[in-house]
Amino acid sequence: MPMQIAPYSTALGAEITGVSLSATCDDELIAEIKAALHEHLVLVIRDQDLSPGEQVAFSERFGDLVVRVSGEFLHPEYPPVLILSNRVIDGKSEGATDAYAGSHWHSDLTYAERPSFGSMLHALEVAEEGGDTAWGNMYAAYDALPDETKIRIDDLKAIHVRDRRRNPRAGIPGDFDRDVNAYYNIKVPDSRHPMVRTHPVTGRKTLYVSPRFTVAIEGMDDAEGQPLLDELFEHQKKPEFIFQHKWRVGDLVFWDNSATIHLACGGIKPPGVRKLHRTSIAGEVPY
Ligand code: SIN
Repeated sequence: MPMQIAPYSTALGAEITGVSLSATCDDELIAEIKAALHEHLVLVIRDQDLSPGEQVAFSERFGDLVVRVSGEFLHPEYPPVLILSNRVIDGKSEGATDAYAGSHWHSDLTYAERPSFGSMLHALEVAEEGGDTAWGNMYAAYDALPDETKIRIDDLKAIHVRDRRRNPRAGIPGDFDRDVNAYYNIKVPDSRHPMVRTHPVTGRKTLYVSPRFTVAIEGMDDAEGQPLLDELFEHQKKPEFIFQHKWRVGDLVFWDNSATIHLACGGIKPPGVRKLHRTSIAGEVPY
């Protein structure tokens, strides 16, 4: 059966059925998936059953994979796989919870010089209630900005940092159960990226800031820069730009980090357990 693509009625996202993903998918199918990704930005590919090794091999069809800098919650045999889980075993978290990964709107790895081009999350276990993930369409967010704001930010760069201690908007969550200083003392240089990014494939402009990683505007003092960032952060999460996904076991969601932001919505109701495997594909220096 050929691949079926059913766009959602939201500003982004499409459901894909009729495929069985693996490293040996033919080049034509990989090209179709890439084209669908650039058109819909978030692909919910249903009914997959990928081992960690198979997810790595499939993800590598789209580029080199990035290993998370903290080194925590990586799959012991396949370090490009980050384990996300709220299960606690013998008092220790099985994986990163949303306190570490995802509890504020962001695009993956924008604190790096080369942020991620795209990421994949594969659902192994899902909670009955809570644990959704939401994505925002940053082409639409940019397009909807008032002209004077577009002119104001078009040539500006923003500063992105990994360290939450330097980001009052993200803060350290109360359920952050490890040594905050050890976690954030890993040296990761700040990055500076255009606030309006040109998508490397489509050439379209996207709004490229997020409250989790963007802390300031280059060359602008905080008295002017912080209110502008607040305005952009409020704007980019307007409901008309958002698609919220309720996970099913077997979902493999593949998204485009250049043109979206995302959020772990939280709210998992105990004893619900959500366990996902994430891979992130390396990208280019934004321009
Ligand atoms: C992430 O931000 O990569 C994780 C999102 C989620 O856990 O829903």
